[in-house]
Amino acid sequence: MTNVGVLILLLLVATTSAYRFYQDEIPNGDHVPHPCKPNYLWWGVGHENPLGGGPKNPFGRDFARYHSWTTELCRLDSDGDGMTNGEELGDPDCVWRKGTFPSTSTGLSHPGVCDPWGSELCREANRDVTCETGEFTCDGIDSPDVMNITLRFPPTRVPPEETSYMCFTFNLDMLDDNTDYHLIGSKPFIDNANVMHHITLTGCDATGVPLSEPALCNMASPGCQRTLQVWTLGMPGECVYPDAGFRFGKKAGMSMINMQFHWTNPQKRTDYVDSSGLVLFLTTKLRKNNAAYFSTGQTELVIPPGQQRVVKKSTCTADCTRKIIKAPVNLMTGWNHMHYLGYQQNVEHFRNGEKLRDLTPDEVYSYDNPKVYTYNPPVQLLAGDVLETTCVYRSTSRSTTAMFGEGTFDEMCFGIFTYYPEEAMQGGACLTWKDIDLCKFDQTGSLYGCNFYMMFNASNPIRQQLFGKVLDNCNVYGGCRAECPAAIAEVKQHPCFTGQMEGYIRDIMRNFQDSVENTKFFAALDSCECRTKPDYGPYPTAGASKQSTLASIAVILAITSVFL
Ligand SMILES: *[C@@H]1O[C@H](CO)[C@@H](O)[C@H](O)[C@H]1NC(C)=O
Ligand SMILES: *[C@@H]1O[C@H](CO)[C@@H](O)[C@H](O)[C@H]1NC(C)=O
Repeated sequence: MTNVGVLILLLLVATTSAYRFYQDEIPNGDHVPHPCKPNYLWWGVGHENPLGGGPKNPFGRDFARYHSWTTELCRLDSDGDGMTNGEELGDPDCVWRKGTFPSTSTGLSHPGVCDPWGSELCREANRDVTCETGEFTCDGIDSPDVMNITLRFPPTRVPPEETSYMCFTFNLDMLDDNTDYHLIGSKPFIDNANVMHHITLTGCDATGVPLSEPALCNMASPGCQRTLQVWTLGMPGECVYPDAGFRFGKKAGMSMINMQFHWTNPQKRTDYVDSSGLVLFLTTKLRKNNAAYFSTGQTELVIPPGQQRVVKKSTCTADCTRKIIKAPVNLMTGWNHMHYLGYQQNVEHFRNGEKLRDLTPDEVYSYDNPKVYTYNPPVQLLAGDVLETTCVYRSTSRSTTAMFGEGTFDEMCFGIFTYYPEEAMQGGACLTWKDIDLCKFDQTGSLYGCNFYMMFNASNPIRQQLFGKVLDNCNVYGGCRAECPAAIAEVKQHPCFTGQMEGYIRDIMRNFQDSVENTKFFAALDSCECRTKPDYGPYPTAGASKQSTLASIAVILAITSVFL
Protein backbone atom coordinates (compact mmCIF):
# COMPACT_ATOMS: atom_id res chain seq x y z
CA MET A 1 0.00 0.00 0.00
CA THR A 2 2.52 2.35 0.91
CA ASN A 3 3.07 5.05 -1.00
CA VAL A 4 4.87 7.25 -2.53
CA GLY A 5 7.16 4.50 -3.75
CA VAL A 6 4.74 4.91 -6.21
CA LEU A 7 6.78 6.37 -8.61
CA ILE A 8 5.61 5.31 -11.80
CA LEU A 9 8.36 6.38 -13.86
CA LEU A 10 8.06 7.53 -17.29
CA LEU A 11 10.13 9.19 -19.76
CA LEU A 12 10.94 10.68 -22.97
CA VAL A 13 14.41 11.19 -24.29
CA ALA A 14 15.64 14.71 -23.86
CA THR A 15 16.34 16.36 -27.14
CA THR A 16 18.05 19.51 -28.26
CA SER A 17 16.86 22.77 -26.85
CA ALA A 18 15.98 24.02 -30.30
CA TYR A 19 13.66 21.07 -30.66
CA ARG A 20 12.06 21.80 -27.31
CA PHE A 21 11.33 25.29 -28.39
CA TYR A 22 9.36 23.96 -31.35
CA GLN A 23 7.80 21.22 -29.27
CA ASP A 24 6.11 23.85 -27.17
CA GLU A 25 5.05 25.96 -30.13
CA ILE A 26 2.82 23.46 -31.88
CA PRO A 27 0.08 21.14 -30.59
CA ASN A 28 1.42 17.72 -29.62
CA GLY A 29 4.88 18.98 -30.55
CA ASP A 30 6.53 16.50 -28.20
CA HIS A 31 5.06 13.46 -29.87
CA VAL A 32 4.89 13.96 -33.59
CA PRO A 33 4.99 10.41 -34.98
CA HIS A 34 7.75 9.32 -37.27
CA PRO A 35 6.26 9.10 -40.77
CA CYS A 36 8.05 5.94 -41.82
CA LYS A 37 8.77 3.99 -38.64
CA PRO A 38 5.76 3.00 -36.60
CA ASN A 39 6.21 3.51 -32.89
CA TYR A 40 8.97 6.07 -33.23
CA LEU A 41 8.75 9.78 -32.69
CA TRP A 42 10.18 12.28 -35.12
CA TRP A 43 13.61 13.34 -34.04
CA GLY A 44 15.96 11.81 -36.54
CA VAL A 45 19.35 13.37 -37.06
CA GLY A 46 19.01 16.57 -39.06
CA HIS A 47 15.29 16.61 -38.45
CA GLU A 48 15.11 17.53 -34.80
CA ASN A 49 12.74 20.27 -35.68
CA PRO A 50 9.39 18.69 -36.48
CA LEU A 51 8.53 21.81 -38.39
CA GLY A 52 11.35 21.10 -40.78
CA GLY A 53 14.45 23.19 -41.25
CA GLY A 54 15.33 22.59 -44.88
CA PRO A 55 14.08 24.78 -47.71
CA LYS A 56 12.43 21.74 -49.31
CA ASN A 57 10.22 21.24 -46.32
CA PRO A 58 7.04 23.17 -46.99
CA PHE A 59 5.98 23.23 -43.37
CA GLY A 60 9.31 24.81 -42.47
CA ARG A 61 8.63 27.66 -44.85
CA ASP A 62 5.12 28.04 -43.55
CA PHE A 63 6.30 28.13 -40.01
CA ALA A 64 8.94 30.71 -40.85
CA ARG A 65 6.13 32.84 -42.21
CA TYR A 66 3.82 32.50 -39.25
CA HIS A 67 6.30 32.13 -36.34
CA SER A 68 3.70 30.54 -34.14
CA TRP A 69 0.60 28.35 -34.25
CA THR A 70 -2.04 30.52 -35.85
CA THR A 71 -5.41 29.60 -37.28
CA GLU A 72 -3.98 30.17 -40.76
CA LEU A 73 -0.99 27.88 -40.22
CA CYS A 74 -3.30 25.30 -38.68
CA ARG A 75 -5.57 25.32 -41.73
CA LEU A 76 -2.75 24.94 -44.27
CA ASP A 77 -1.76 21.57 -45.66
CA SER A 78 1.98 22.18 -45.67
CA ASP A 79 3.03 18.77 -46.94
CA GLY A 80 0.26 18.49 -49.54
CA ASP A 81 -1.04 15.13 -48.36
CA GLY A 82 -4.65 16.19 -48.09
CA MET A 83 -4.79 16.78 -44.34
CA THR A 84 -4.45 20.19 -42.71
CA ASN A 85 -1.61 20.81 -40.29
CA GLY A 86 -4.19 21.00 -37.51
CA GLU A 87 -5.69 17.66 -38.45
CA GLU A 88 -2.25 16.09 -38.50
CA LEU A 89 -1.32 17.49 -35.08
CA GLY A 90 -4.51 16.85 -33.14
CA ASP A 91 -6.01 20.35 -33.42
CA PRO A 92 -8.62 19.84 -36.16
CA ASP A 93 -10.65 22.89 -35.08
CA CYS A 94 -7.59 25.15 -34.88
CA VAL A 95 -8.30 26.22 -31.32
CA TRP A 96 -5.05 25.13 -29.62
CA ARG A 97 -2.95 27.78 -27.86
CA LYS A 98 0.57 27.40 -26.47
CA GLY A 99 0.63 25.86 -23.02
CA THR A 100 -2.69 24.05 -23.28
CA PHE A 101 -3.54 20.47 -24.09
CA PRO A 102 -4.66 19.78 -27.65
CA SER A 103 -8.12 18.34 -28.15
CA THR A 104 -6.66 14.96 -29.03
CA SER A 105 -3.28 13.27 -28.77
CA THR A 106 -4.07 10.26 -30.88
CA GLY A 107 -4.17 9.62 -34.59
CA LEU A 108 -1.39 12.16 -35.18
CA SER A 109 0.79 12.38 -38.26
CA HIS A 110 3.69 14.51 -39.40
CA PRO A 111 2.63 17.91 -40.78
CA GLY A 112 5.77 18.42 -42.82
CA VAL A 113 6.23 14.98 -44.36
CA CYS A 114 3.79 13.61 -46.89
CA ASP A 115 1.93 10.50 -45.66
CA PRO A 116 1.75 7.68 -46.39
CA TRP A 117 5.50 7.54 -46.70
CA GLY A 118 6.56 5.69 -49.84
CA SER A 119 3.30 6.22 -51.69
CA GLU A 120 3.34 7.46 -55.28
CA LEU A 121 1.67 10.69 -54.21
CA CYS A 122 4.45 11.45 -51.74
CA ARG A 123 7.51 10.34 -53.66
CA GLU A 124 8.36 13.77 -55.07
CA ALA A 125 7.33 15.70 -51.95
CA ASN A 126 9.56 13.57 -49.73
CA ARG A 127 12.58 13.48 -52.04
CA ASP A 128 14.85 15.21 -49.55
CA VAL A 129 13.53 13.73 -46.35
CA THR A 130 15.77 11.10 -44.79
CA CYS A 131 13.89 8.32 -43.15
CA GLU A 132 16.14 7.37 -40.29
CA THR A 133 15.41 6.71 -36.65
CA GLY A 134 17.76 6.59 -33.74
CA GLU A 135 18.33 2.83 -33.63
CA PHE A 136 19.30 1.59 -30.21
CA THR A 137 23.00 1.84 -29.72
CA CYS A 138 24.63 1.25 -26.39
CA ASP A 139 28.32 0.87 -25.73
CA GLY A 140 28.96 -2.25 -23.81
CA ILE A 141 25.93 -4.40 -24.54
CA ASP A 142 27.81 -6.43 -27.15
CA SER A 143 30.59 -7.25 -24.74
CA PRO A 144 30.95 -11.02 -24.11
CA ASP A 145 30.17 -10.67 -20.41
CA VAL A 146 26.75 -9.14 -21.14
CA MET A 147 23.77 -11.47 -21.24
CA ASN A 148 20.24 -10.59 -22.16
CA ILE A 149 16.91 -11.80 -20.84
CA THR A 150 13.60 -11.09 -22.52
CA LEU A 151 10.60 -10.55 -20.28
CA ARG A 152 7.33 -10.49 -22.24
CA PHE A 153 3.70 -10.61 -21.29
CA PRO A 154 1.92 -13.74 -22.47
CA PRO A 155 -0.49 -12.81 -25.31
CA THR A 156 -3.07 -10.71 -23.49
CA ARG A 157 -6.31 -9.15 -24.63
CA VAL A 158 -6.19 -5.35 -24.57
CA PRO A 159 -9.29 -3.91 -22.85
CA PRO A 160 -11.53 -1.73 -25.04
CA GLU A 161 -10.63 1.30 -22.95
CA GLU A 162 -8.81 4.46 -23.86
CA THR A 163 -6.20 3.81 -21.14
CA SER A 164 -5.35 0.62 -19.26
CA TYR A 165 -2.60 -0.18 -16.79
CA MET A 166 -1.70 -3.85 -16.73
CA CYS A 167 0.82 -5.64 -14.50
CA PHE A 168 2.56 -8.98 -14.67
CA THR A 169 5.29 -10.42 -12.46
CA PHE A 170 8.30 -12.47 -13.48
CA ASN A 171 10.38 -14.70 -11.25
CA LEU A 172 14.14 -14.62 -11.56
CA ASP A 173 14.74 -18.35 -11.89
CA MET A 174 16.85 -17.83 -15.00
CA LEU A 175 19.48 -16.06 -12.89
CA ASP A 176 21.80 -17.38 -10.24
CA ASP A 177 20.47 -16.61 -6.75
CA ASN A 178 23.90 -15.95 -5.32
CA THR A 179 25.32 -13.72 -8.03
CA ASP A 180 25.22 -9.96 -8.23
CA TYR A 181 24.12 -8.55 -11.56
CA HIS A 182 24.19 -5.07 -13.00
CA LEU A 183 21.38 -4.02 -15.28
CA ILE A 184 23.05 -1.78 -17.85
CA GLY A 185 20.40 -1.23 -20.48
CA SER A 186 17.10 -2.30 -21.97
CA LYS A 187 15.34 -2.39 -25.29
CA PRO A 188 11.61 -2.62 -25.93
CA PHE A 189 10.14 -5.68 -27.57
CA ILE A 190 7.04 -4.20 -29.11
CA ASP A 191 4.48 -6.74 -30.19
CA ASN A 192 1.44 -4.52 -30.82
CA ALA A 193 2.59 -1.03 -31.74
CA ASN A 194 -1.01 0.17 -31.94
CA VAL A 195 -1.50 0.07 -28.20
CA MET A 196 1.88 0.14 -26.49
CA HIS A 197 2.50 3.41 -24.72
CA HIS A 198 4.94 2.79 -21.93
CA ILE A 199 6.52 0.08 -19.80
CA THR A 200 7.95 0.37 -16.30
CA LEU A 201 9.95 -2.32 -14.60
CA THR A 202 10.28 -2.46 -10.83
CA GLY A 203 11.99 -4.83 -8.43
CA CYS A 204 9.81 -6.38 -5.72
CA ASP A 205 10.69 -7.13 -2.13
CA ALA A 206 9.31 -10.08 -0.16
CA THR A 207 5.92 -8.34 0.23
CA GLY A 208 5.25 -8.24 -3.53
CA VAL A 209 2.42 -10.53 -4.63
CA PRO A 210 3.12 -12.73 -7.68
CA LEU A 211 0.58 -12.58 -10.49
CA SER A 212 -0.21 -15.80 -12.32
CA GLU A 213 -1.56 -13.86 -15.29
CA PRO A 214 -1.50 -10.19 -16.37
CA ALA A 215 -3.96 -8.14 -14.32
CA LEU A 216 -5.25 -4.59 -14.36
CA CYS A 217 -3.32 -2.53 -11.85
CA ASN A 218 -3.17 0.98 -10.55
CA MET A 219 -0.42 3.49 -10.98
CA ALA A 220 1.44 1.91 -8.04
CA SER A 221 2.35 -1.73 -7.48
CA PRO A 222 2.50 -2.62 -3.81
CA GLY A 223 5.77 -4.23 -2.72
CA CYS A 224 7.39 -3.48 -6.07
CA GLN A 225 8.85 -0.05 -5.71
CA ARG A 226 12.41 -0.31 -6.81
CA THR A 227 12.38 1.26 -10.23
CA LEU A 228 14.72 -0.44 -12.65
CA GLN A 229 13.82 0.62 -16.16
CA VAL A 230 11.31 2.73 -17.98
CA TRP A 231 10.45 2.77 -21.64
CA THR A 232 8.00 5.07 -23.32
CA LEU A 233 6.80 5.66 -26.84
CA GLY A 234 9.60 7.04 -28.95
CA MET A 235 12.57 5.65 -27.05
CA PRO A 236 14.79 3.19 -28.88
CA GLY A 237 15.95 1.84 -25.51
CA GLU A 238 17.78 2.84 -22.40
CA CYS A 239 21.53 2.76 -22.05
CA VAL A 240 22.77 3.29 -18.51
CA TYR A 241 25.73 5.66 -18.18
CA PRO A 242 28.89 3.54 -18.69
CA ASP A 243 30.24 3.95 -15.16
CA ALA A 244 27.16 2.53 -13.47
CA GLY A 245 24.56 -0.24 -13.37
CA PHE A 246 21.46 -1.04 -11.33
CA ARG A 247 21.90 -3.96 -8.94
CA PHE A 248 19.65 -6.76 -10.11
CA GLY A 249 18.64 -10.23 -8.94
CA LYS A 250 17.82 -12.12 -5.78
CA LYS A 251 21.12 -11.29 -4.15
CA ALA A 252 20.19 -7.62 -4.50
CA GLY A 253 17.02 -8.31 -2.50
CA MET A 254 14.53 -8.74 -5.33
CA SER A 255 12.09 -11.60 -4.99
CA MET A 256 10.68 -10.99 -8.45
CA ILE A 257 10.18 -8.31 -11.09
CA ASN A 258 6.99 -6.43 -11.85
CA MET A 259 6.33 -5.15 -15.36
CA GLN A 260 3.65 -2.57 -15.88
CA PHE A 261 2.17 -1.64 -19.24
CA HIS A 262 0.26 1.44 -20.15
CA TRP A 263 -1.87 0.63 -23.16
CA THR A 264 -3.81 3.18 -25.17
CA ASN A 265 -6.74 2.02 -27.26
CA PRO A 266 -8.61 5.21 -28.18
CA GLN A 267 -10.82 3.48 -30.72
CA LYS A 268 -11.78 1.00 -27.98
CA ARG A 269 -11.19 -1.91 -30.29
CA THR A 270 -11.97 -5.32 -28.86
CA ASP A 271 -9.70 -7.36 -31.12
CA TYR A 272 -6.28 -6.16 -29.92
CA VAL A 273 -3.91 -8.61 -28.29
CA ASP A 274 -0.45 -7.69 -27.05
CA SER A 275 2.60 -9.58 -25.92
CA SER A 276 5.20 -6.85 -25.62
CA GLY A 277 8.03 -6.69 -23.15
CA LEU A 278 11.62 -5.67 -22.57
CA VAL A 279 14.99 -7.13 -23.39
CA LEU A 280 17.22 -6.52 -20.38
CA PHE A 281 20.99 -6.39 -20.61
CA LEU A 282 22.75 -7.74 -17.55
CA THR A 283 26.34 -8.28 -16.63
CA THR A 284 28.07 -10.11 -13.81
CA LYS A 285 31.22 -8.13 -14.52
CA LEU A 286 30.06 -5.36 -12.25
CA ARG A 287 30.63 -1.79 -13.27
CA LYS A 288 32.49 0.68 -11.09
CA ASN A 289 29.32 2.02 -9.46
CA ASN A 290 25.89 0.93 -8.37
CA ALA A 291 23.14 3.15 -9.70
CA ALA A 292 20.07 4.17 -7.71
CA TYR A 293 17.05 6.44 -7.61
CA PHE A 294 16.71 9.69 -5.70
CA SER A 295 13.54 11.74 -5.17
CA THR A 296 12.79 15.22 -4.02
CA GLY A 297 9.50 17.06 -3.66
CA GLN A 298 6.42 17.96 -1.67
CA THR A 299 4.18 15.50 0.21
CA GLU A 300 1.64 18.05 1.42
CA LEU A 301 -0.79 18.73 -1.38
CA VAL A 302 -4.27 20.16 -1.22
CA ILE A 303 -5.52 21.20 -4.64
CA PRO A 304 -8.98 22.76 -4.62
CA PRO A 305 -11.24 22.05 -7.59
CA GLY A 306 -11.80 24.43 -10.48
CA GLN A 307 -8.47 26.28 -10.29
CA GLN A 308 -6.52 27.51 -13.31
CA ARG A 309 -3.23 27.45 -11.48
CA VAL A 310 -2.20 26.05 -8.10
CA VAL A 311 1.52 26.27 -7.33
CA LYS A 312 3.26 24.01 -4.79
CA LYS A 313 6.90 24.33 -3.89
CA SER A 314 9.36 22.23 -1.96
CA THR A 315 12.91 23.03 -0.94
CA CYS A 316 15.43 20.26 -0.47
CA THR A 317 17.61 22.22 1.93
CA ALA A 318 21.37 22.48 2.29
CA ASP A 319 20.94 20.91 5.74
CA CYS A 320 19.33 17.90 4.14
CA THR A 321 21.88 17.44 1.36
CA ARG A 322 24.67 17.81 3.94
CA LYS A 323 23.05 15.05 5.93
CA ILE A 324 22.31 12.55 3.16
CA ILE A 325 25.14 13.17 0.68
CA LYS A 326 28.32 11.42 1.77
CA ALA A 327 30.35 11.90 -1.43
CA PRO A 328 29.72 13.71 -4.73
CA VAL A 329 26.60 12.32 -6.38
CA ASN A 330 26.39 12.06 -10.17
CA LEU A 331 22.91 12.54 -11.58
CA MET A 332 22.46 10.61 -14.84
CA THR A 333 18.81 11.27 -15.67
CA GLY A 334 15.90 13.16 -14.17
CA TRP A 335 12.17 13.57 -14.71
CA ASN A 336 9.08 15.00 -13.10
CA HIS A 337 6.25 13.08 -11.52
CA MET A 338 2.78 14.40 -10.83
CA HIS A 339 -0.59 12.84 -11.72
CA TYR A 340 -3.26 14.07 -14.11
CA LEU A 341 -3.67 17.59 -12.71
CA GLY A 342 0.04 18.24 -13.23
CA TYR A 343 0.59 21.09 -15.63
CA GLN A 344 4.15 22.42 -15.31
CA GLN A 345 7.09 21.34 -13.22
CA ASN A 346 10.74 22.10 -12.71
CA VAL A 347 13.52 21.19 -10.30
CA GLU A 348 16.13 23.93 -9.95
CA HIS A 349 19.66 23.31 -8.72
CA PHE A 350 21.40 25.88 -6.49
CA ARG A 351 24.86 26.06 -4.91
CA ASN A 352 25.98 28.77 -2.49
CA GLY A 353 22.83 30.72 -3.20
CA GLU A 354 23.46 30.74 -6.92
CA LYS A 355 21.29 28.95 -9.45
CA LEU A 356 23.28 26.45 -11.48
CA ARG A 357 20.63 25.03 -13.76
CA ASP A 358 17.12 23.83 -14.38
CA LEU A 359 17.16 20.06 -14.06
CA THR A 360 13.69 19.16 -15.34
CA PRO A 361 12.10 22.21 -16.97
CA ASP A 362 8.76 20.88 -18.26
CA GLU A 363 6.88 23.85 -19.68
CA VAL A 364 3.99 21.54 -20.35
CA TYR A 365 3.84 18.47 -18.17
CA SER A 366 1.84 15.48 -19.27
CA TYR A 367 1.53 12.36 -17.17
CA ASP A 368 1.04 10.34 -20.32
CA ASN A 369 3.95 11.89 -22.18
CA PRO A 370 6.68 12.51 -19.65
CA LYS A 371 10.13 13.75 -20.64
CA VAL A 372 13.33 12.33 -19.28
CA TYR A 373 16.33 14.60 -19.16
CA THR A 374 19.66 12.88 -19.71
CA TYR A 375 22.72 14.54 -18.20
CA ASN A 376 25.87 13.75 -20.12
CA PRO A 377 28.23 14.36 -18.48
CA PRO A 378 26.36 13.65 -15.25
CA VAL A 379 25.36 16.60 -13.07
CA GLN A 380 27.24 16.70 -9.79
CA LEU A 381 25.16 17.13 -6.68
CA LEU A 382 27.18 18.06 -3.60
CA ALA A 383 26.53 18.20 0.12
CA GLY A 384 25.17 21.69 0.77
CA ASP A 385 23.44 22.06 -2.62
CA VAL A 386 19.78 23.05 -2.69
CA LEU A 387 17.05 21.67 -4.97
CA GLU A 388 13.89 23.68 -5.43
CA THR A 389 10.89 21.80 -6.84
CA THR A 390 7.92 23.71 -8.27
CA CYS A 391 4.75 21.87 -9.24
CA VAL A 392 1.94 23.65 -11.03
CA TYR A 393 -1.54 22.11 -11.20
CA ARG A 394 -4.66 22.94 -13.15
CA SER A 395 -7.84 21.55 -11.63
CA THR A 396 -10.51 23.10 -13.84
CA SER A 397 -11.62 19.58 -14.80
CA ARG A 398 -12.35 18.59 -11.19
CA SER A 399 -15.23 19.16 -8.85
CA THR A 400 -13.50 17.80 -5.73
CA THR A 401 -10.27 18.55 -3.88
CA ALA A 402 -7.22 16.47 -4.79
CA MET A 403 -4.75 15.60 -2.07
CA PHE A 404 -1.40 13.87 -1.85
CA GLY A 405 -1.75 10.13 -2.40
CA GLU A 406 -1.10 7.26 -4.71
CA GLY A 407 -4.50 6.95 -6.37
CA THR A 408 -4.98 8.12 -9.93
CA PHE A 409 -7.09 11.04 -8.73
CA ASP A 410 -4.74 11.89 -5.89
CA GLU A 411 -1.73 14.03 -6.68
CA MET A 412 2.02 13.97 -6.29
CA CYS A 413 4.93 16.36 -6.73
CA PHE A 414 8.26 14.61 -7.15
CA GLY A 415 11.44 15.12 -9.11
CA ILE A 416 13.00 11.70 -9.70
CA PHE A 417 16.64 11.16 -10.60
CA THR A 418 18.97 8.28 -11.31
CA TYR A 419 22.45 8.66 -9.87
CA TYR A 420 25.66 6.90 -8.95
CA PRO A 421 27.28 5.75 -6.80
CA GLU A 422 24.39 4.40 -4.77
CA GLU A 423 26.44 4.59 -1.59
CA ALA A 424 27.13 8.33 -1.98
CA MET A 425 23.66 9.08 -0.77
CA GLN A 426 21.84 7.81 2.26
CA GLY A 427 18.12 7.22 2.05
CA GLY A 428 17.57 8.42 -1.48
CA ALA A 429 15.01 11.11 -0.62
CA CYS A 430 14.92 14.78 0.21
CA LEU A 431 11.25 15.53 0.81
CA THR A 432 9.15 18.05 2.66
CA TRP A 433 5.69 18.21 4.17
CA LYS A 434 4.86 21.89 3.73
CA ASP A 435 8.05 23.46 5.16
CA ILE A 436 8.88 20.52 7.41
CA ASP A 437 12.14 19.01 6.29
CA LEU A 438 11.59 15.25 6.44
CA CYS A 439 15.36 14.74 6.40
CA LYS A 440 15.24 15.77 10.03
CA PHE A 441 13.87 12.38 11.07
CA ASP A 442 16.53 10.87 13.30
CA GLN A 443 17.52 7.27 14.01
CA THR A 444 14.95 7.01 16.83
CA GLY A 445 12.04 8.03 14.59
CA SER A 446 11.86 11.57 15.98
CA LEU A 447 11.18 14.68 13.95
CA TYR A 448 11.62 18.06 15.62
CA GLY A 449 11.29 16.37 19.01
CA CYS A 450 8.15 14.43 18.11
CA ASN A 451 8.70 10.69 18.33
CA PHE A 452 6.62 8.87 15.75
CA TYR A 453 6.88 5.50 17.49
CA MET A 454 5.25 7.21 20.46
CA MET A 455 2.69 9.22 18.52
CA PHE A 456 1.41 6.30 16.44
CA ASN A 457 1.47 3.63 19.16
CA ALA A 458 -1.92 3.61 20.86
CA SER A 459 -0.51 1.77 23.90
CA ASN A 460 2.23 4.30 24.52
CA PRO A 461 1.76 6.00 27.93
CA ILE A 462 2.86 9.46 26.77
CA ARG A 463 0.41 9.39 23.91
CA GLN A 464 -2.31 8.09 26.22
CA GLN A 465 -1.63 10.99 28.56
CA LEU A 466 -1.85 13.57 25.74
CA PHE A 467 -4.99 12.04 24.29
CA GLY A 468 -6.53 11.60 27.74
CA LYS A 469 -5.95 15.23 28.63
CA VAL A 470 -7.99 16.39 25.64
CA LEU A 471 -10.63 13.66 25.66
CA ASP A 472 -11.28 14.09 29.39
CA ASN A 473 -11.72 17.86 29.17
CA CYS A 474 -13.17 18.51 25.75
CA ASN A 475 -16.30 17.49 23.84
CA VAL A 476 -16.01 15.12 20.93
CA TYR A 477 -19.41 16.01 19.49
CA GLY A 478 -19.06 19.78 19.52
CA GLY A 479 -19.41 22.65 21.92
CA CYS A 480 -16.56 24.25 23.84
CA ARG A 481 -16.33 23.26 27.50
CA ALA A 482 -14.91 25.80 29.94
CA GLU A 483 -12.05 23.52 30.98
CA CYS A 484 -11.15 22.59 27.41
CA PRO A 485 -9.00 25.56 26.23
CA ALA A 486 -6.46 25.04 29.02
CA ALA A 487 -6.19 21.34 28.21
CA ILE A 488 -5.68 22.10 24.53
CA ALA A 489 -3.09 24.78 25.29
CA GLU A 490 -1.14 22.27 27.33
CA VAL A 491 -1.21 19.59 24.63
CA LYS A 492 -0.17 22.09 21.97
CA GLN A 493 3.07 22.66 23.87
CA HIS A 494 4.09 19.15 22.89
CA PRO A 495 6.48 19.00 19.88
CA CYS A 496 4.02 16.77 17.96
CA PHE A 497 1.47 19.61 18.02
CA THR A 498 3.69 22.64 17.56
CA GLY A 499 3.57 24.69 14.37
CA GLN A 500 3.15 22.66 11.18
CA MET A 501 3.76 19.38 13.03
CA GLU A 502 0.12 19.20 14.07
CA GLY A 503 -0.96 19.35 10.43
CA TYR A 504 1.61 16.73 9.47
CA ILE A 505 0.41 14.36 12.20
CA ARG A 506 -3.18 14.86 11.03
CA ASP A 507 -2.24 14.22 7.42
CA ILE A 508 -0.41 11.00 8.28
CA MET A 509 -3.34 9.78 10.31
CA ARG A 510 -5.59 10.55 7.36
CA ASN A 511 -3.39 8.53 5.05
CA PHE A 512 -2.11 5.73 7.25
CA GLN A 513 -3.74 5.45 10.65
CA ASP A 514 -7.39 6.27 10.36
CA SER A 515 -8.85 5.13 13.71
CA VAL A 516 -11.84 6.09 15.82
CA GLU A 517 -9.58 7.14 18.66
CA ASN A 518 -7.60 9.50 16.45
CA THR A 519 -10.75 10.96 14.95
CA LYS A 520 -12.23 11.63 18.38
CA PHE A 521 -9.01 13.17 19.63
CA PHE A 522 -8.87 15.69 16.79
CA ALA A 523 -12.60 16.42 17.05
CA ALA A 524 -12.06 17.25 20.72
CA LEU A 525 -8.93 19.24 19.93
CA ASP A 526 -10.95 21.36 17.48
CA SER A 527 -14.00 21.76 19.72
CA CYS A 528 -13.14 25.28 20.89
CA GLU A 529 -12.10 26.59 17.52
CA CYS A 530 -14.22 28.60 15.21
CA ARG A 531 -12.93 27.33 11.92
CA THR A 532 -13.79 29.61 9.08
CA LYS A 533 -12.09 27.77 6.30
CA PRO A 534 -11.28 24.09 5.91
CA ASP A 535 -7.65 23.11 5.63
CA TYR A 536 -8.33 19.94 3.76
CA GLY A 537 -10.60 18.19 1.34
CA PRO A 538 -12.58 15.09 2.16
CA TYR A 539 -11.04 12.40 4.31
CA PRO A 540 -10.16 9.77 3.38
CA THR A 541 -9.00 9.82 -0.21
CA ALA A 542 -9.84 7.04 -2.58
CA GLY A 543 -7.20 4.41 -2.98
CA ALA A 544 -5.33 4.99 0.27
CA SER A 545 -5.72 1.98 2.49
CA LYS A 546 -5.88 2.68 6.18
CA GLN A 547 -4.33 0.70 8.90
CA SER A 548 -4.50 1.19 12.57
CA THR A 549 -1.47 -0.89 13.36
CA LEU A 550 2.00 0.17 14.12
CA ALA A 551 3.06 -0.91 10.69
CA SER A 552 2.06 2.59 9.71
CA ILE A 553 5.05 4.06 11.50
CA ALA A 554 7.39 1.84 9.63
CA VAL A 555 5.64 2.97 6.50
CA ILE A 556 6.01 6.65 7.28
CA LEU A 557 9.66 6.33 8.15
CA ALA A 558 10.24 4.19 5.13
CA ILE A 559 8.57 6.67 2.85
CA THR A 560 10.59 9.51 4.11
CA SER A 561 13.94 7.83 4.10
CA VAL A 562 14.39 4.36 2.84
CA PHE A 563 12.26 3.58 -0.17
CA LEU A 564 12.64 6.79 -2.00
C1 LIG B 1 20.74 -11.99 -26.65
O1 LIG B 1 21.80 -12.88 -26.51
C2 LIG B 1 21.90 -13.85 -27.56
C3 LIG B 1 23.09 -14.76 -27.26
O2 LIG B 1 23.05 -15.19 -25.95
C4 LIG B 1 22.12 -13.16 -28.89
O3 LIG B 1 22.12 -14.10 -29.92
C5 LIG B 1 20.99 -12.16 -29.11
O4 LIG B 1 21.24 -11.43 -30.27
C6 LIG B 1 20.87 -11.22 -27.94
N1 LIG B 1 19.72 -10.39 -28.12
C7 LIG B 1 19.80 -9.08 -28.20
C8 LIG B 1 18.52 -8.37 -28.38
O5 LIG B 1 20.85 -8.47 -28.11
C1 LIG C 1 3.84 0.39 22.02
O1 LIG C 1 3.93 0.90 23.33
C2 LIG C 1 3.94 -0.11 24.34
C3 LIG C 1 3.93 0.59 25.68
O2 LIG C 1 4.99 1.51 25.80
C4 LIG C 1 5.16 -0.99 24.17
O3 LIG C 1 5.16 -2.02 25.14
C5 LIG C 1 5.14 -1.59 22.79
O4 LIG C 1 6.33 -2.32 22.58
C6 LIG C 1 5.04 -0.50 21.76
N1 LIG C 1 4.92 -1.12 20.48
C7 LIG C 1 5.83 -0.97 19.55
C8 LIG C 1 5.61 -1.76 18.30
O5 LIG C 1 6.78 -0.23 19.67
